[in-house]
Amino acid sequence: MFEEMNRREFMQKTALATAAASLTSASYSRIFGANDKLNIAIIGCGRMGRFNLGVQQKIRQVNVAAVCDVYEPNLQQALKMTGGKATGYRDFRKILERQDIDAVLIATPDHWHALMTTLACEANKDVFVEKPASVTISEGRRMVQVARRTGRIVQVGTMQRSSPVFQNAVKIVQSGALGDISFVRTWIMGNEYPDGIGNPPD
Ligand SMILES: NC(=O)c1ccc[n+]([C@@H]2O[C@H](COP(=O)([O-])OP(=O)(O)OC[C@H]3O[C@@H](n4cnc5c(N)ncnc54)[C@H](O)[C@@H]3O)[C@@H](O)[C@H]2O)c1
Repeated sequence: MFEEMNRREFMQKTALATAAASLTSASYSRIFGANDKLNIAIIGCGRMGRFNLGVQQKIRQVNVAAVCDVYEPNLQQALKMTGGKATGYRDFRKILERQDIDAVLIATPDHWHALMTTLACEANKDVFVEKPASVTISEGRRMVQVARRTGRIVQVGTMQRSSPVFQNAVKIVQSGALGDISFVRTWIMGNEYPDGIGNPPD
């Protein structure tokens, strides 16, 4: 519990710092006035998307103008969080068509990251995309190419790499205290019954 609290706090602080840094960078590409707000959209409103949405709502210069999810309950939950102020979409391409959206925050499953980041850059949006950046190395290289070609700011949410909790875990493994690691099992707790579609059977 203690570690979980620290992790949550860390993620919150990092996410806020990230958003602030992105804002600063964005303000170089678009001159910001004191009352200007950055219009952002959240694409993928599951566990991480809604966490990120909550963080963004704490930043004065950010306006969450749109949310998108193909799964209606998650879309509705995100809309509720914005008090109905954001517009809801099922198709992320409709968000990319909007000229007033400055940046998108992508928190869909991994296999969507490369395509959505690429199309968002092409549509002149800055991007914060959840980790992993891509599923394959070649996809990742193309994401870098498109970000450079379009001049967009793209950041990948790899904050777990800088969290003391995970760094300690790496140190423990590297110290040899656990012996030779021959098998690792990981799992994800998101999208479970009764809220989501459930995890696959063992
Ligand atoms: N940075 C971190 O610490 C961290 C932690 C957890 C997860 N993640 C990453 O965040 C991403 C999402 O993870 P999660 O746990 O929130 O998963 P999740 O399943 O809870 O949420 C994903 C959401 O995306 C929606 N979605 C799927 N395809 C879509 C599409 N084409 N358009 C719009 N919405 C779509 C799903 O309906 C779902 O609501 C993953 O890539 C994961 O690796 C990052």
